[in-house]
Amino acid sequence: MITGKTKIIGIFADPVEHTLSPSIHNEAFQYLGLNYCYVPFHVKKEYLKDAIFAIKALNIKGVNITVPHKEAVIKYLDEVSDEAKYIGAVNTILNNEETLKGFNTDAKGFVLSLKNEKILIKDKIFLVLGAGGAAKAIVYGILKEGGRVYIYNRTLAKAMAIKERFSNLGFIEVVSIIDKSVTEKVQTIVNATSLGLKKDDPMPLSPELLKSEHVYCDIVYPETHLMKEAEKIGCKVIGGTGMLLWQAVAAFEIWTGLQAPVEIMKKTLNKVLTK
Ligand SMILES: NC(=O)c1ccc[n+]([C@@H]2O[C@H](COP(=O)([O-])OP(=O)(O)OC[C@H]3O[C@@H](n4cnc5c(N)ncnc54)[C@H](OP(=O)(O)O)[C@@H]3O)[C@@H](O)[C@H]2O)c1
Repeated sequence: MITGKTKIIGIFADPVEHTLSPSIHNEAFQYLGLNYCYVPFHVKKEYLKDAIFAIKALNIKGVNITVPHKEAVIKYLDEVSDEAKYIGAVNTILNNEETLKGFNTDAKGFVLSLKNEKILIKDKIFLVLGAGGAAKAIVYGILKEGGRVYIYNRTLAKAMAIKERFSNLGFIEVVSIIDKSVTEKVQTIVNATSLGLKKDDPMPLSPELLKSEHVYCDIVYPETHLMKEAEKIGCKVIGGTGMLLWQAVAAFEIWTGLQAPVEIMKKTLNKVLTK
């Protein structure tokens, strides 16, 4: 029940209608008996600065930031965690007595989604497809965990920029085409492009390049065409719902300072995905 003491958490996005985060977090707040409420805010680019100001003005406790604001938001914050600064993107803000601090929980979310499926990262070689905001967090997460990265992107310059940004963290190389010479030297392939959301999207990689020994990981959810193809080939397949869950768990803990009820959040996510 909303009372005068209810703490507000929000998500700023454009569009925002598709978000699953309110269901996941509200169920978790209710389960722990916390007087919090998570609400969606449709924030257009031209209002981002005002919306961030409103966090303080309205005493909102925290927000998630998603497409298309993760990079633009940084300049309006009082503090940014070292990790978010390094990645160059913020997806979680905490309002700590009128000091707005930005965090990035996408990198942690991706790493935990693999670890929970017993996928090793240290000393393993990854092919990351895409060089957008999510790819940046994923590459950072892999390198910090001791993995090695080949990165491919339609716009090569963006992959080059990621290499420059992170090359001091470990091995990262840009590839300009994907063929067997690339896929045969990697253990895990990650789709971090936005391909796979729409029915008529092309696949980010030809299934012919996949072998049963590959781990195929897709951050687009719930299930892409290439995930189905990879399953048929016999690959171990990891979908994007794991990353979604674990980034939410990390954000919940930043806002509340409490351990998140992971099983409840997972159950809720599965329930809303099958609706
Ligand atoms: N599971 C999760 O928790 C989670 C978290 C974050 C994001 N995501 C999902 O991940 C996807 C990417 O998010 P983002 O924030 O990184 O988006 P973004 O910054 O807009 O990046 C999109 C990426 O997809 C590539 N791309 C788009 N259309 C393409 C096409 N037709 N052919 C080839 N490449 C194409 C872009 O290539 P160019 O650079 O050449 O344009 C770019 O690399 C989204 O679907 C998002 O919903 C999931």
